[in-house]
Amino acid sequence: MKITKIIFLLIVIQIQVQAQQGGMWIPSLLKGMNESEMQSLGSKLSAKDIYDVNNSSLKDAIGHFNGGCTSEVISPKGLLLTNHHCGFGQIQSHSSLENDYLKDGFWAMSLEEELPNEGLYVEFIIRIEDVTKLALAGVTAEMTEAEKQSQIDKNNNTLQKEAKKEDWQDTKVKAFYKGNQYFLFVTERFEDIRLVGAPPTSIGKFGSDTDNWVFPRHTGDFSMFRIYADANNRPATYSKENMPYKPKHFLPVSLDGIAEGDFTMVFGFPSRTDEYLPAVAIEHITKEFNPSNIAIRKAALKVIDAKMKESDEIRIKYASKQARIANAWKKWIGENLGIEKSNAIENRRAFEASFTKALSKKGLEETYGNILPEFEALYADFAPVNIKRRNFIEVFIITNELMQMTYRAYQMERAINANKDNFEKAKGSLSSRLNNIHKNYDVGVDKGVFNKVMPFYTKNIDASIYDKTAFVNLESALALLDGNTKQVLKKINNDPAYIYAKPMIEAFYNDINKDFQQKSTAISALQKQYMKALMEALPTARYFPDANGTLRVTYGQVRGYSPRDAVYYNPVSYLDGVIEKYIPGDYEFDVPERLLDLYEAKDFGQYADANGKMPVCFLGTNHTTGGNSGSPAIDANGNLVGLNFDRVWEGTMSDMNYDPEICRNIMVDVRYVLFIIDKYAGATHLIDEMELVHPKK
Ligand code: ARG
Ligand code: GLU
Repeated sequence: MKITKIIFLLIVIQIQVQAQQGGMWIPSLLKGMNESEMQSLGSKLSAKDIYDVNNSSLKDAIGHFNGGCTSEVISPKGLLLTNHHCGFGQIQSHSSLENDYLKDGFWAMSLEEELPNEGLYVEFIIRIEDVTKLALAGVTAEMTEAEKQSQIDKNNNTLQKEAKKEDWQDTKVKAFYKGNQYFLFVTERFEDIRLVGAPPTSIGKFGSDTDNWVFPRHTGDFSMFRIYADANNRPATYSKENMPYKPKHFLPVSLDGIAEGDFTMVFGFPSRTDEYLPAVAIEHITKEFNPSNIAIRKAALKVIDAKMKESDEIRIKYASKQARIANAWKKWIGENLGIEKSNAIENRRAFEASFTKALSKKGLEETYGNILPEFEALYADFAPVNIKRRNFIEVFIITNELMQMTYRAYQMERAINANKDNFEKAKGSLSSRLNNIHKNYDVGVDKGVFNKVMPFYTKNIDASIYDKTAFVNLESALALLDGNTKQVLKKINNDPAYIYAKPMIEAFYNDINKDFQQKSTAISALQKQYMKALMEALPTARYFPDANGTLRVTYGQVRGYSPRDAVYYNPVSYLDGVIEKYIPGDYEFDVPERLLDLYEAKDFGQYADANGKMPVCFLGTNHTTGGNSGSPAIDANGNLVGLNFDRVWEGTMSDMNYDPEICRNIMVDVRYVLFIIDKYAGATHLIDEMELVHPKK
């Protein structure tokens, strides 16, 4: 009797534990609920192993990579691991037709061969502090939203200035829980980051757009960098005298791999999620907002993709840009699919009904009962301008480059009109924009894109501007900037492309964007109130702060999933799958000769799985998002077992609706990374600097 009861209870607890997943947690607050949840999932780590201010801890190995990705230190000499797609811009910038590192890969065989990267930086977190009280000091209910925000900004400036820190460190305050909580971060930013190695694109981006965001996956999405520091081991800009950085902590690398059910933790810098949206917002995003942006990108990609296949020069020039455009395009499609498949909108409405019930039960109707109806009204008003504004951004900034150049020129004119003294600075910034765009510009591609995307924004299409404008050629574009303020503005305003674009850009600045800002400020204020209301009305629910580009811990287990009826995806993929997908000469699925040979010979060294096969990727229930690219997958003991790089198609909706049934993150097995470095590239000196461990033996 008793035993069955205990077993029953254990089953209940187990089910609860399995359901209790999702969340991106603040590393300094893991003690308690998160620590025990992690341990119940198999972790042997304490909260202090992960984050500690006084001793080195896992967090000291995790670096924010160029503000957009994550990277981790994996050797005592500052060796840094991140994704191939995170280092893509750097790999591309060192590539040419003669040295095509995108196509062939790159490996520095000594420190001297490592390549510096201007502008690239990696930032570590030294300390995190809750500063909510001070950040909100002096904010009163009577203030308008703008007054509240300016008081908070003032408080945060003081906090940032007065925080205890070393000279070479920085501070920043960030809002959490929609502005109901504030944390201060002390950070350290390294600016001499050199490229160490990258596999060929046929490994690092194997499967390209066809496989992007989907499983089964077979991509070796990694690249390697090294942090350099000054003689005192402190951050410094590039100098030949700099030395490899000696980290406070680096991750040992496990050779034992993972198995279904193993604990994993992903530690990194997720950029943005919106987990507490009302149903009306999810409806707007998936039914109106996403579809309009998907259509614009689809039209642009059709042109770019075709031209890239025609010429190697265009392929190199447009590689990075195409990847950026295609990535979100495909994600939005998957997001819509997942929201639909999981009935997210209906479920959110049902949840809102229970929230409303809880309000009345607790006597909170007076205080918070207005929130949901107000959301409905605000979104009805916001939807058209949100779409119009985003369409402008898609057309004028993201897909069409001539429009982007006119947009930048307009910004210069605006800055000068605001104050004549801005001339030199604004001119300099336009000139560097123009230089950057023209580094990878092809007028044929751009004109093709213009013809396809412009109709999404205006009825006024005039491609003849391409034959008359100075902007499509770097030399003539820069010549527009010769002369004094008056001359320059006159030349710009006589350019046919500028004449064409200026009224639309003006309307964007003066009407569309202003209207958008006003309406989204009102929504944010309500969202802040809603967050507070949720926590009061339903205090025992699971709350974690939305991603905001700060360091977070997410954890789960290695698990497969079922994307549709009768289909189940195993959590691990193998090199056999690369060979299955192999299409000789194909731009997405070609496989390098050397990899085919290694596969034939089963020459996997110490990196094969217990079954003798070479693992490539695996799935987990870790709740990740953009920015988690390059994040380490860490095992129960704090060792590196994988490298996060993607999510599954049906699960990309996790930014709004995390569902443990179908939301999975995709990681490269670190043994595949080691195998490529060692057996494929012969860069054994890199393996030698790592600490390889056998935690399961
Ligand atoms: N989807 C992943 C992310 O959001 C990977 C993107 C790079 N890979 C690619 N095939 N484009 O960044
Ligand atoms: N690939 C994404 C990135 O670059 C991470 C994957 C995701 O969005 O989950 O950040």
